[in-house]
Amino acid sequence: MEELDVRIEKILSQMTIDEKIGQLNQISSPLVPDEKVFEEIRKGNIGSFILSTTAQAGNDDADNVSANLLNELQRVAVEESRLGIPVIFGRDVIHGHNTVLPIALTAAASFDDALVKECYRNVAREAARDGVHWTFSPMVDLSRDPRWGRCVEGPGEDPYLGSKMARAMIEGFQGEDLAAEDSVAACAKHYLGYGASEGGRDYFKTEISEYTIRNFYLPAYKEAVDAGAQTVMAAFNEISGQPCSSSRYWLTDVLKKELGFDGFIVSDWGAIPQTICQGVAEDEKQAAELCFNAGLDMEMVSACYLKHLKELIEQGMVSEEQLDDSVRRILRVKLRLGLFEKPYIPKYSVDKDKHKRDARRLAGESIVLLKNKDNILPLNLESSITLAGPMVTDKVNVLGTWVLDGNPEDVTSVLEGIKGNYPKCDINYRDSAFEEEQLCVANYKGDITVLCLGETKMMTGEANSVSNIEISDRMINIVKNAYVKKKPIVALLFYARPIAIKEIEPYCDAIVWCGNLGTETGNAVADVLFGKVNPSGKLPVTLPYCTGQIPIYYNTTAASRAVNGYYDGYLNYHDCQAAPMYPFGFGLSYSDFDISFDLSNRKISLKELEEGKTLKIKIKVRNISETDGREVVQLYVKDVAASMARPIRELKQYKGVFVKANNEEELDFEVGYRELGFYNANGNFVVEKGKFEIFVGNDCYADKKTLLEVN
Ligand code: BGC
Repeated sequence: MEELDVRIEKILSQMTIDEKIGQLNQISSPLVPDEKVFEEIRKGNIGSFILSTTAQAGNDDADNVSANLLNELQRVAVEESRLGIPVIFGRDVIHGHNTVLPIALTAAASFDDALVKECYRNVAREAARDGVHWTFSPMVDLSRDPRWGRCVEGPGEDPYLGSKMARAMIEGFQGEDLAAEDSVAACAKHYLGYGASEGGRDYFKTEISEYTIRNFYLPAYKEAVDAGAQTVMAAFNEISGQPCSSSRYWLTDVLKKELGFDGFIVSDWGAIPQTICQGVAEDEKQAAELCFNAGLDMEMVSACYLKHLKELIEQGMVSEEQLDDSVRRILRVKLRLGLFEKPYIPKYSVDKDKHKRDARRLAGESIVLLKNKDNILPLNLESSITLAGPMVTDKVNVLGTWVLDGNPEDVTSVLEGIKGNYPKCDINYRDSAFEEEQLCVANYKGDITVLCLGETKMMTGEANSVSNIEISDRMINIVKNAYVKKKPIVALLFYARPIAIKEIEPYCDAIVWCGNLGTETGNAVADVLFGKVNPSGKLPVTLPYCTGQIPIYYNTTAASRAVNGYYDGYLNYHDCQAAPMYPFGFGLSYSDFDISFDLSNRKISLKELEEGKTLKIKIKVRNISETDGREVVQLYVKDVAASMARPIRELKQYKGVFVKANNEEELDFEVGYRELGFYNANGNFVVEKGKFEIFVGNDCYADKKTLLEVN
């Protein structure tokens, strides 16, 4: 037995049933010292605290628990409970702590896992010294529905990009050494399929086949487990009639057994009694029985386990072995975090300037240039600009949803970013805030109009879904009012979710998708507008042409009457084109790149693939412009004919590369078993013999391809 297991067994052997059940109980932290809570800790009835008191912490003002109180709660656990087992403090540290990073969907556009990892390391360093041991992040839910407000918390529509982002965030949070004082345990959430809520309605049911789950929704969780995520949160939704919280198949058979997850599963907020609403449990006792037997280890806030597990064990409805398994898992994470050795809040300093620099870089790389007619961007350093729209001076909404510890006062607004970095510009600005009816753009002294369009952060996040993703009339009016002034228009879109922009596109010379960029918003925007940063962000989701196209995503299978072009397999609607506004992976640069590789056909045998052999592809990226720039080269695979219909294309690898003006770089890509395989109808990962098309380019429409035959 390993040393860790010996320690776990030693503790477990001393525990009473009540103490074991107590470990499974997570409650909301008190905001002031509370003798009743101290008493519960002494009795061993509390295993964990969530540092928040509301069911929708992402939408509400955050509660801050003082360091002294956290240390006191911990002291009571360590010194005054019978076995001295430390409590674990969890908080929603989602896309930043004090320094707020771009929200996950925006950050995914960077296609830069190394930078994301570095930034999330910074987040862990800021959070751990505030007493956070464990964060309820990253959310790795794939989503194909921009109506669902929570699509912004995840990495978009692609399982490969989602997996890379999941790993980067987890490795950043957890660091090299989980026991280090500046590491926090990660939580991959919400397992499973939450992003497929029907109609984009939050908390709603999903209907997903196992084939689709395994090929699309599960991979990021597999990667999260492989990356060492210590915890996983079960999702609210049901999948085809079975709530995730009470699904033994998904929690135990797949996650714990098949994927080998050895940490613990936490419920979502109040999700156990919610199985009553979902119609699978009659009362809280039955809800506890079902969820516990499914393998849900820790209960967030609703205390059904605390109230009913003992009786359920006595009645033989749940087993003590299962209880031991859950307790082992929780102790394992506490031990790995080093909480037994170092239970109290560590003291160390952080380099906030570095965190801001990294955040600025990530924000810059996350910006996607969608249109740049006549190379209107980058702007001249001494431009005369009219700046208008609701986000010109905004410091709150640009942070996005789920910001518990970030301070709007630390945010650089767009106005400040431009003024601070480019003082020679002549700026006329009008900040037509959301509340104002005044839509006109004032003081047209400038040569160019930069419109900062967007929506409030309350339009996205938990319980904030919409039925219509069209850009609002108010924003359309701002654009049209600007258009009559006959100056070129640059539209900056501060929307975290995909929106349909066909109504404004014809009026805009440049369109820049900024998403929610966080603390460094203004600096990053200025960097891109003036060319200090050459944009390299790529869309992590398809931007639909209109609401009625939803769902629309690039990695779909082809229709039965498919022809040549990417979306030609879709019949056009009578009232709308088939193709989206902008495809997955798309993003312009101020440079021009030529991506080339040897297109001759290749062969490899299945046996060689099984033995780990890969097909190596050398890719040449030439920068055929006068501007240095970064390009994200993307490799897509299409399994031409298989036992199941396979997607038109699937992203299997990407690499960001910086290429100097009029220069070239070479990249090595590899295609092997993992890239060519899929989960078949029986749920087995297989590579099937036959032809594969391999496309390389800079978006999902990449047209240069090679044919690979697997024999
Ligand atoms: C959300 C989770 C969150 C939890 C704790 C739930 O309502 O779905 O994402 O981590 O609350 O705040």
